[in-house]
Amino acid sequence: MPPLVLVSNRGPVTYRSGEGGLVAERGGGGLVSALSGLAEHTDALWISAALSDEDAQMAASADGRAFALPASENADRGRFVVVDPAAFDGYYNVVANPLLWFIQHYLWDLSNHPDIRPDELAAWADGYVVVNDAFADAVIDELNHSPDAVVMMHDYHLYVAPERIREAHPGAFIHFFVHIPWSQPDYWRVLPPHIREHILRGLLACDIVAFHTPRYARNFLMCCDDLLAIDVNYERSEVRWAGRTVWVRSYPISVNAPNFERMAQSDEVRREEAPILRRRRAHLIVRVDRTDLSKNILRGFKAYDMFLEQHPEYLEQITFMAFLQPSRQDVVEYVTYLDKIRQRASFINTKHGNTDWMPIELRIESNLARAVALYKHYDVLMVNAIFDGMNLVAKEAPLVNERHGVVILSENVGAHEELGSFALSINPFDVGAQAEALHTALSMPTEERRIRSEQIQRVVRENDVVKWLNAQQSDIAAKRTADGPA
Ligand code: G6P
Repeated sequence: MPPLVLVSNRGPVTYRSGEGGLVAERGGGGLVSALSGLAEHTDALWISAALSDEDAQMAASADGRAFALPASENADRGRFVVVDPAAFDGYYNVVANPLLWFIQHYLWDLSNHPDIRPDELAAWADGYVVVNDAFADAVIDELNHSPDAVVMMHDYHLYVAPERIREAHPGAFIHFFVHIPWSQPDYWRVLPPHIREHILRGLLACDIVAFHTPRYARNFLMCCDDLLAIDVNYERSEVRWAGRTVWVRSYPISVNAPNFERMAQSDEVRREEAPILRRRRAHLIVRVDRTDLSKNILRGFKAYDMFLEQHPEYLEQITFMAFLQPSRQDVVEYVTYLDKIRQRASFINTKHGNTDWMPIELRIESNLARAVALYKHYDVLMVNAIFDGMNLVAKEAPLVNERHGVVILSENVGAHEELGSFALSINPFDVGAQAEALHTALSMPTEERRIRSEQIQRVVRENDVVKWLNAQQSDIAAKRTADGPA
């Protein structure tokens, strides 16, 4: 395998000050574990943003270049891109989240938001583009030393960087994975033409543009067709652009099934189980999510409220444990959303609960071991996202659940393509349907629960993250062969 240059906003490590100097800690986010298999077979360098002052110190001590990563990490070397905080703020807190994130999850309430004002235009030009240029320059520098490397870029933070890389290295191999949905062409018209066209041109500078599902890939092709007016081959899922052929592909991401199952048996997870078992009632509904607007937490609570109204026989017999990781609290929409979550939960607790019973147990915290302990004991898992690229909770939780729990699954999450027929499929806007699904799940015969949950486990084990990585590797090899020597 050729050497790899992995590129993403959040990297495999972040540094903090400790005794005797800088100490590396595992970076947050699912990408780090998903890519862990890649670096086993080849030399891998991971370029990411310096997210802490200590990261910036580390970058300075390496003279802005690559440095060795601790042996336990899934790349051999790291390299930080250090940018001015004001530029980073425009890039991350104005453009990437919320502007692009909201467009790609259809979250804007268009009669009110967003306003594209001089501030947003400046965040694009002086933030997003500037940070992307800095990432591109780091990649260009690495390719100067290692022109044969395969560049694998990730996510919506970095859409325009590939164009600059392509200009400097016309023969480079660039692979780009978009981990979130890709919305339909008209929704991209929220962005002024120069911005949306820049984004599409950036992605078309790649050799392969990858998504989780064929639906997102098709939406991307339609955007090229509609917004750039270029010829798109839908049958072959290809676009011709600037004399090159761009493959548009889909690979559903997954979890590392054996590792996850092993982790579920660890002492750390076991320690978290006892308190959960003590607090649970006869029935347990669980959700584990970031406090992101796309996750549809409020409608999930409203559905539970409706269910309790319609089925008072469940009062005091059931608990809804919602474990929510606080997310992006520098973005005002996320702060407001978290407030509303708290208010809705306390409204339902006041309405239905009593001194002895709390219908919703809300925890706002990040604790993986506790979340996995919860996964093991739910009767119903609620995944009702408005739109979601894949949703790994829908894959990892059933894998380790010990009660043949039922999954309520939004038809708009990527995981629905693989798991929809074994879950209870719901429309995420239809609160009544979600209330009904709760009842169906809780009253489902044991045998049907068993069959459905075993089918989900089978699909997740058969299509785990190793398959996801292998499929991409073999397409990269095939595309390089098809294109011939640079
Ligand atoms: C979600 C998405 C990823 C994305 C990440 C960024 O997990 O599925 O595709 O990279 O959010 O989150 P962050 O906390 O780094 O803003």
